[in-house]
Amino acid sequence: MAVHQGPYLLCLLALVLASLTIVHAEHSNHTIEPFNRSSFPTDFIFGTATAAYMIEGAANIDGRGPCTWDIFVKRHPEKIQDGKNANVACDFYHRYKEDIQLLKTIGLDSFKFSISWTRVLPKGKVSGGVNPQGVKFYNDLINELLSNGIKPLVFLMHFDPPQALEDEYDGPLSPKFVNDFQDYADFCFKTFGDRVKLWVTMNEPIAMSVNGYSTPNFPPGRCSSYVPNCTAAGNSATELYIVGHNLLLAHGAVVKLYKDNYEPYQKGKIGLATYSTWVEPEDNTSSSREAASRYMDFLLGWFVEPVIYGDYPERLKFALGSRLPKFTEAQSKLVKGSIDFLGLSYYSAGYAKTVSPANGVNVTFWTDVQVNYTNRGYMKPKGLLKLLLYIKGKYNNPTIYITENGIGGRDLRDLRRIKYYYRHFLSLSKAIKEGVNVKAHYSWSFLDSFEWGAGYLLPNGIVFVDFKDNLTRHLKDSCYWFKKFLLK
Ligand SMILES: *[C@@H]1O[C@H](CO)[C@@H](O)[C@H](O)[C@H]1NC(C)=O
Ligand SMILES: *[C@@H]1O[C@H](CO)[C@@H](O)[C@H](O)[C@H]1NC(C)=O
Ligand SMILES: *[C@@H]1O[C@H](CO)[C@@H](O)[C@H](O)[C@H]1NC(C)=O
Ligand SMILES: *[C@@H]1O[C@H](CO)[C@@H](O)[C@H](O)[C@H]1NC(C)=O
Ligand SMILES: *[C@@H]1O[C@H](CO)[C@@H](O)[C@H](O)[C@H]1NC(C)=O
Ligand SMILES: *[C@@H]1O[C@H](CO)[C@@H](O)[C@H](O)[C@H]1NC(C)=O
Ligand SMILES: *[C@@H]1O[C@H](CO)[C@@H](O)[C@H](O)[C@H]1NC(C)=O
Repeated sequence: MAVHQGPYLLCLLALVLASLTIVHAEHSNHTIEPFNRSSFPTDFIFGTATAAYMIEGAANIDGRGPCTWDIFVKRHPEKIQDGKNANVACDFYHRYKEDIQLLKTIGLDSFKFSISWTRVLPKGKVSGGVNPQGVKFYNDLINELLSNGIKPLVFLMHFDPPQALEDEYDGPLSPKFVNDFQDYADFCFKTFGDRVKLWVTMNEPIAMSVNGYSTPNFPPGRCSSYVPNCTAAGNSATELYIVGHNLLLAHGAVVKLYKDNYEPYQKGKIGLATYSTWVEPEDNTSSSREAASRYMDFLLGWFVEPVIYGDYPERLKFALGSRLPKFTEAQSKLVKGSIDFLGLSYYSAGYAKTVSPANGVNVTFWTDVQVNYTNRGYMKPKGLLKLLLYIKGKYNNPTIYITENGIGGRDLRDLRRIKYYYRHFLSLSKAIKEGVNVKAHYSWSFLDSFEWGAGYLLPNGIVFVDFKDNLTRHLKDSCYWFKKFLLK
């Protein structure tokens, strides 16, 4: 619940005015013009984002089966900075109604959540049984959002595939994953698609591939013996690219299914959420210029180039040789053009220079990228504008949804966060004026929550969750800033 709204709001107004003055002085040559949602197209979506595993809790009740994160955290508590787990998390499973009231108070248009695959299909497959309590939860959640005028943006997977599929055939490392993901998606479209009009197949396939199969920070933590702290034997030079390939095929298969069987009457849109930073050359040498281009191709191009043009970037093909799977003609056709919109997580910007090649020794994703990255002094809002212009130019001006963007910080008085969003929104409005087709922004995140390997030590919420006092919610100052910004 949002407490002390009254006195809070007053001191906040002063604070917001102060902050607007500060940022305006830097940005628009000392004139103070009002800046709010009216500077954006009327159909621009302002939302906030979460992920099932980070907030729901209720991990072991009402029929939910384990996802890979449940097992990873249980077996390897040392992988989580504070040694904690997400069994209760924010208990969103039981508190979604009061949380939706908070979304409404703030005035947000849309809420991004992900469906926990194993809450709906505990064993990962339709043939393993459907969990009616899980289906009921998502039906109730979707209905509650809609009846409060909030559009759901639903991700089918946010880092949390079923452990049962991991145990059976190594999850996304196997091409068998494609069919099971497609069956699960089919079930979701059939069950929820009458009301959900915005879908994303999966969040940041790069994070699943690199963190789970080249460095051991995500489940299953497979890597080569030269990488410290692996939790399973793997191959840090090859498996990540196989997983990336299978995830792209799984994405493509699900989009085809949606386009063929559901879109004609459900009339929704579907996309893929990617991750990128923005980098520029550290200095004006050809080696640094090449480093910056290489960095962009490995971080963004790896997944975006296939879904736009049907193949991997030339730089990856050249650098990785036979370690990078090849698209067959049919696969290329499947993934090419497989997005209505490109989801984008954006957090940082910086500079790149080349590091000496690994020459085949202790190869990981990072030795493949072969870049020394520093974000020293780079202004993130400027980086967002440049990244959006880059995507527009390089990838044929796709529709873009910013599906994550934000900063950490637990304080209720989060002036830093207010400035952060203010400046990023200015960049977005500039991008729109320059013809970028960006249509939505989701702040990361709605609630302070379980942030994967950081445990509860990286609270990103615009809403404070008191983990010491019955998970009580308190609106941070940024919520009041959003409220004022979003007033219609
Ligand atoms: C202030 O803005 C005006 C109009 O945008 C511009 O022509 C002028 O050069 C700016 N002045 C400074 C000092 O930046
Ligand atoms: C929003 O900004 C516009 C100018 O861009 C201004 O006319 C309007 O009053 C502002 N709305 C609110 C609610 O502050
Ligand atoms: C490996 O794990 C140990 C124990 O959690 C930790 O202290 C160490 O920093 C880790 N090493 C690396 C390179 O991550
Ligand atoms: C490769 O990894 C091994 C084992 O961790 C280490 O002893 C060796 O120094 C590494 N070699 C290089 C060139 O980094
Ligand atoms: C970078 O170097 C190129 C030639 O290598 C030169 O043409 C260009 O002007 C330089 N750019 C900057 C910003 O110094
Ligand atoms: C990266 O660059 C920084 C600053 O130039 C330097 O201190 C650091 O040693 C470099 N790291 C690698 C791995 O080259
Ligand atoms: C904790 O919060 C929940 C949800 O708001 C509420 O139902 C419950 O009564 C609270 N428990 C205590 C001990 O305050």
